[in-house]
Amino acid sequence: MTSFVHRPALQGAWFPVAEVADLGVSPLAVTLLGERLVIWRGSDGVLVVALDSCPHREAPLSIGTLIDGELSCAYHGWKFSAEGRCVLVPSSGTDAPVARAAHLSCRRVEERYGLIWVCPGQPTGAIPKIVQDDDSSFRRLNSGVEEWEVSTPRLVDNFMDFSHFPWVHTGTFGAGQNPEVPKLDLGQLDDDFFGYVYEVDAANPDEASAVSGSDDDVVHRVMTTGFSLPFIVRSTIRYDDGLQHILLLCSTPIDDLRSYFTFVVWRNDDHSVDPEEIIAFDRAIGAEDKAMLEQVPGTLPLERTGLTSVQSDKPSVEWRRRFAELIEVRD
Ligand code: FES
Ligand SMILES: [Fe+2]
Repeated sequence: MTSFVHRPALQGAWFPVAEVADLGVSPLAVTLLGERLVIWRGSDGVLVVALDSCPHREAPLSIGTLIDGELSCAYHGWKFSAEGRCVLVPSSGTDAPVARAAHLSCRRVEERYGLIWVCPGQPTGAIPKIVQDDDSSFRRLNSGVEEWEVSTPRLVDNFMDFSHFPWVHTGTFGAGQNPEVPKLDLGQLDDDFFGYVYEVDAANPDEASAVSGSDDDVVHRVMTTGFSLPFIVRSTIRYDDGLQHILLLCSTPIDDLRSYFTFVVWRNDDHSVDPEEIIAFDRAIGAEDKAMLEQVPGTLPLERTGLTSVQSDKPSVEWRRRFAELIEVRD
């Protein structure tokens, strides 16, 4: 099995690990690249992301109590505030100075597109830009974060591939789609995404009509699909009447074999369709991918010769080549 989660290059990337809406009255526990983290909103309103292990006796901080942005450890009550500073060690009394080693070592965090993004080390790039997020004619819909028993590179490989559509997406948009894939030209789509543009006639069942804005059995779509290393994929759909549906597919390694998956949608529609209805259709598509991918064991081989590929795999092979180069996997 090719382990990838401990490769140094990934320490500089940004990973969406939760939705901002997931933050509640308790601290939030997540696992990123095999490392357990705790997240909460500090007393200054800024998110704190730290190792989910108390510096005192390593109790998980995520089982602690949160009051006014201060996290109190469940074991001996040490209290941590903004920037992970330890502000109280109850057994030493309220006046005793707090040792520097009692403060938490924190990770970089940003809130963007309704998601919480964490960079484990020194950032080597920025969170990919979705220009529609600043465009008031678009609304943004978040979908919730799921855990998939799938290795993250397999998710990205799948999202860059469209030869599986007529085989896997038979219950949504792929039924009856021509299985033959045209030759695809790859190129830079914008500053952050690399991929391809293609046109397709997609099945438009009743459940899809709210999303496509059309009652026709088949709708014509101009689509782009592209990746931003390491694991973000953006798929844009433009219908003939000008409606655009942008999908950001976010896959984050919990560890080598499991992933968080969430997607974000932007649409320039008239808001007449209930967000739940739109999300439900994309979620059904995701469930088809999940059902397939959870049957595929292990991590994705990253060596060039590790898999048999054909012409239609060109986009996913290019992602795999660049990803392998990024994390320095050699043939
Ligand atoms: S383990 Fe956290 S206060 Fe002791
Ligand atoms: Fe799919």
